[in-house]
Amino acid sequence: KRIAVFASGSGSNFQAIVDHVKSGKLKANVMLLVCDKPGAKVVERAEKEQIPAFVFDPKQYESKEQFEEDILQQLRHYQVDFIVLAGYMRLIGHTLLHAFAGRIVNIHPSLLPAFPGKHAIEQALRAGVKITGVTIHYVDEGMDTGPIIAQRAVEISEDDDANTLAEKIHKIEHSFYPETIGKILEKLEVKA
Ligand code: GRF
Repeated sequence: KRIAVFASGSGSNFQAIVDHVKSGKLKANVMLLVCDKPGAKVVERAEKEQIPAFVFDPKQYESKEQFEEDILQQLRHYQVDFIVLAGYMRLIGHTLLHAFAGRIVNIHPSLLPAFPGKHAIEQALRAGVKITGVTIHYVDEGMDTGPIIAQRAVEISEDDDANTLAEKIHKIEHSFYPETIGKILEKLEVKA
C-alpha cells in the first residue's frame, strides 16, 4: 500500500515509519511527505531518505481548500492509498476528508478523550494523573476526536517532567504507530 505522511515538526515518527518500512517490518511504501512548515526538521529527514516532499506555506494560500487541493493533486500523482498524520499541527479540511474518507489516521500523546489538543503532555502532568498514554485514531473534522483504533498506557512517575514524559511517550509511539499502521493496511482495500 502507498502511504503519505503529514508532519510539521521534528518528524521522529516519520523516521520510525520509514525505518520500519526499510527493515521490512512495515509492508508499505512511503510515497510522500506533506509538510506545512518550510524548514522543519522532517523535511531534512525526507531528503536524506530520498522521499519526495510537498512542503508548502499555508500563508501563501487564501484558504484551506486551496492548499488541500494542491495536496490532493500530489497524493493523486503518487497514487497514495492512505494518509498518516504524525505531528501535523493542523486540522484536516473537508477536501481531504472527503477524498480520503476512512483513510486518514493520527497519533496523539494522551489517552483520548482525555487531553485533546496541542498540550496533551503538559495537561496530563498538571492534572496529576498517574497514567497517560498514546492514542491512534481515525481523523474526522474535529481536534483529536475520530474513532479510536488503539491505545497504549504510559505511567507517570513522581519525578517526571514534560521532557521525560515526552521521551517515554515518543519511545512507545515509534514502535506502536508503525505496528498499528501495518495492521490497518492489511485490511485496507486498494483504491480502484
Ligand atoms: C508526537 O508526540 C505525536 O503524538 C504528536 O506530535 C508528536 C510528533 O512528534 N501528534 P515527531 O515530530 O514525530 O517527533
